[in-house]
Parts: sequence; C-alpha cells; structure tokens
Amino acid sequence: MGAVSQRLFGVEWQGPVLLASGTCGYGEEYSDLIPLDDLGGLVTKAVSVEPREGNPPHRISETPGGMLNSIGLENVGLEAFVREKLPWLEENLDRARVLVNVVGNSVDEYAAVVAGLDDEDGFLGYEINVSCPNVEGGTMFGTDREALGRLVERLRGETDRPIVVKLTPNVPDIGAYARVCEEAGADGLSTINTFPGMLIDVDKRRPVIGNVNGGVSGPAILPMGVYLTWQAATATDLPIIGIGGIRSAEDALQYVLAGASLVQIGTALFVDPESAVGVTEGIEKYIEERDVGDLSELVGTVDVERPARVGLGYE
Ligand code: FUM
Repeated sequence: MGAVSQRLFGVEWQGPVLLASGTCGYGEEYSDLIPLDDLGGLVTKAVSVEPREGNPPHRISETPGGMLNSIGLENVGLEAFVREKLPWLEENLDRARVLVNVVGNSVDEYAAVVAGLDDEDGFLGYEINVSCPNVEGGTMFGTDREALGRLVERLRGETDRPIVVKLTPNVPDIGAYARVCEEAGADGLSTINTFPGMLIDVDKRRPVIGNVNGGVSGPAILPMGVYLTWQAATATDLPIIGIGGIRSAEDALQYVLAGASLVQIGTALFVDPESAVGVTEGIEKYIEERDVGDLSELVGTVDVERPARVGLGYE
C-alpha cells in the first residue's frame, strides 16, 4: 500500500478519496467514466426499506458557488438494492471500499435496512444518513441528540460492521452530536451533509426547485465543511470522513489537516468525474514533495493555538 493508503475501520483503504452518496448512484452508473476500483471507495445513494420516488422536478440547479439539490432520497429500496445493485458492487469492486448510505423514518426503519443488508456481501459498512434536508423528518435524528443516541445504539446492536454517521451542519454545536455518536458506539463520522437553501426564478416568481428548498453543496461550503470537521475532530476520537466542496488536492488536504482521515467528493463530479482521481494524485504529490511518511501523519495536524469554540451559545 502507498503513502496515501489509510487503515481505518479495521481495513486498509488504498486511497483517501471516496465518491459521495447521491453523486455516483450505486457505482455502476460511474463505471464507464472513471476507474472506480482505483479509488478509496464510494458511498451508495441512500437505501430505505421501501423504494422512494423522490421529489418533483426541478431537483437540481446550479448556484454561483455550487449546486442546490432536492432529490428526495429517491432509491430502489432495500429488496431491489440487494437483488440488483449489491451484486454489481461485489463483482466489480475488489479494492475500493463501499459504504451503504442508510435512511429511515424511524429507528425501526433504519434498523430494518441494516438487518436486511448485514449478511450480504459487496460492502464494508454503513453511512447512516441523519442529515438530509430535503424530506420531511430527514434531519429529525441529526438535530436531536437524544434521538441520535438512541438510533446509533440500536444500530450498534444490529451489526458488527463499521457505522459511520453522516452529520448535518445545521446544528449549533456539531461537536456535541459527534460525542453522542461516539458514546452510542459509532465507528466514525462523515462531516458534513448539505446546508438548506432556496433559489427563486424572478420571471415566474416561483422557487426554482420543485420541493421549494434543497441542499447547498459545492465550493461555496468548503470553509464551513473544513471548520465543522475541525470542530467534530476536536470533540471526539472518532475517525472522520470530510465532505463539502472538495475539488482539488488542496481542498482535500484542508479537511485532512482539520482532522479527516478520508474525504468524499460529490458536486465536483458533476463538472469533472475524473476530479476524484486528480485529487488522489495531488495528495500523493504533496506527501512526496514534503517528505511526509504517509497521509495519516497529517491527519488533524493543523496548527491552531486556541481550542475549538464550540456552539453558538444556545442549545
Ligand atoms: O434529496 C436528497 O436525496 C438528498 C439527500 C441527502 O442530502 O442526504
């Protein structure tokens, strides 16, 4: 394994870059575009117990600094995922790791997805999505620490596979939510999901997005993602996967220095699917040029003199 490989969640990751949930389907959709098996891995679109149709169009709109999306967690549902999507992942990815993004409307629904997948092959673990701003109840668990703790504890009882909780940025103190996940038995965190946003068509005087609001992603949110990753990293010992606006190796390295061991690329793929490969190569070059032994030596090493200022002063 090379200088950018990482040992995390009990396994070796050949590279630090994963494709983010919702931006690469179930992997197969991207197989003609980039050599998926050369990446660190990918996170599938969310999987719910029942299939979901998602939100009405328009579902995506470009913004000055990125993208506004409101897909509404459209997915094929647990049964079809196991029957039609997992076999492709198992057959085609040997080295890249797969996390399955899991959603539900209740603790029981999340648990049913995990229980329904746990004996299957083709994936390493779960990214628990408690942070979708685009559906009723999508952030219900991600913005209530007690409910979040109950959910993670229950899922811990369902599986020995890695549980990574994808946190919402839309809380006053992400560190407090990170600690809840750690105490409840999570193995890691993904920081962060999108910020809520809205665009208005001034000719029609109507929202651009069919569901009115959506989640903002892309370069505009990079500083928020880096900051919230740093906050989460200083609040817990859990390994972190950094997400939000990454387009280049320099962007990814900011997340690493803030405390992320792995990163995810999402919105940048819509502009250049190969950016995931370029980011990995750029990180390799940075390590080589600076005589760093390997990537893990850089994780969380940003030189900051003051502790993270947690929260905004309210609960
Ligand atoms: O609308 C969506 O499906 C977005 C999901 C997410 O942000 O987790």
